[in-house]
Amino acid sequence: IVDTVDTVGPVDTVDALDTREGPGPVTFPPGFVWGVATAAFQVEGSTTADGRSPSIWDTFCDTDGAVAGGDTGEPAADHYRRMPSDVALMRELGVGAYRFSLAWPRVRPDGGDVNPRGLDFYERLVDTLLEAGIIPWPTLYHWDLPQALEDRGGWTARDTAARFADYAATVVDRLGDRVTTWTTLNEPWCSAFLGYGSGRHAPGRTDPGAAVAAAHHLLLAHGLAATAVRARVPDAEVGVTLNLFPVSPADPRSQEDLEVARRVDGLQNRLFLDPVLLSRYPEDVLADLEPWLGEVVRDGDEAVIGAGADFLGVNYYRDLFVSSAPDEQSGPPSEWVGTDHVSFPERGLPRTDSGWDVNAGELTGLLLRLHTEYPRLPLYITENGAAFRDEVGPGGRIEDADRIAFVEAHLLAAHRAVARGVDLRGYFYWSLLDNFEWAEGYAKRFGLVYVDYETQRRTPKASAAWYSRVMADNGLAG
Ligand code: NOJ
Repeated sequence: IVDTVDTVGPVDTVDALDTREGPGPVTFPPGFVWGVATAAFQVEGSTTADGRSPSIWDTFCDTDGAVAGGDTGEPAADHYRRMPSDVALMRELGVGAYRFSLAWPRVRPDGGDVNPRGLDFYERLVDTLLEAGIIPWPTLYHWDLPQALEDRGGWTARDTAARFADYAATVVDRLGDRVTTWTTLNEPWCSAFLGYGSGRHAPGRTDPGAAVAAAHHLLLAHGLAATAVRARVPDAEVGVTLNLFPVSPADPRSQEDLEVARRVDGLQNRLFLDPVLLSRYPEDVLADLEPWLGEVVRDGDEAVIGAGADFLGVNYYRDLFVSSAPDEQSGPPSEWVGTDHVSFPERGLPRTDSGWDVNAGELTGLLLRLHTEYPRLPLYITENGAAFRDEVGPGGRIEDADRIAFVEAHLLAAHRAVARGVDLRGYFYWSLLDNFEWAEGYAKRFGLVYVDYETQRRTPKASAAWYSRVMADNGLAG
């Protein structure tokens, strides 16, 4: 039963892998969307097929030392060629919605003319999903900027935002009669600060001013594209997906730690949330990012960015526990632009194979915070999941109990927020398939379905069967 309180009180942090509050089923609201997620560059492969041009990730993969193991976008999970059987697999699992991204370099190679053959693939995908009774849930940008646009400045160039709106219009002209829910960007924080700040992601630049300019132009791109989508399909639902992190100071009595937590929260969360949802940058973040932000924001930009979101996609993997104390990581260029000496002390929590602390309980607080600070905003968890060292056991089975425990803990945390009135409307597991985990290459496996990259054979893990039941039961059976 969902109560509909409007105001919420403080929430206690619960244990990392908590257990149920009591016996009985944990049921989500009627119509709750259950899905799985992927992204074009991570699963498709076929990087030169049908007129696709190189993206910044193709270039980055060819850079020595940029990606673990020298891995590249080939073969990925060969989804470009195996799409029909992958959709059939989703249907067997009872997936309600499929969150995927379109590759800009397939649709408008080099950021230029429309390539109908690239669009054809996504049209076939959407039609195959609809025939299977699965809601198509596309994202327009999941990090694969055409390299030709990067050569003209990439996201540091204001013009890239306008090119993105043109590309969005192209896609919506073809698919807007069949797709109702559009996401503009996936995790623009990563595109800006990993791409142009620390250089851990493509295009691998390390320039704080470039990172801040990129963040602003990505936000502008969201606003322009949202407007372009609505102009074509007035009743479309348009949103953006952000990677949001609850941030807490290692020592809440230390002014320095509190200040670092404020800055990290500003850069990671509010820099994106406020302009999209409140049409303005937060004052303190503007001050933190001077002079860089002031140099790129023009009159009227905040209103464009605030063209708004009909929903917010939340990607939640972990929280951040921050300290002002310098550690041995100080030195290389950091994504924490404008923040000196941030470090992340050990808490002894369980970790995933990505080295990320597991702290499911913080998801409740994050959802409650969004509900109170940005009221009346429908929320979707557009990604949650974990890499673990999956091993193929006897009989070819993959018993990934740790992944099941991870998802169960996060669903319980999400449900606790729902029970307190948060308008959470869906959950997407990342990912359907093992895939190319960016700078980490293929070694980190997030899939519900194991991919043998030699043969491209798919083997559903134990978690796939478990999640299939969750989707069928609309929650966790008691
Ligand atoms: C966020 C990104 O959207 C996705 O591409 C990535 O693979 C997962 N998180 C896991 O790191």
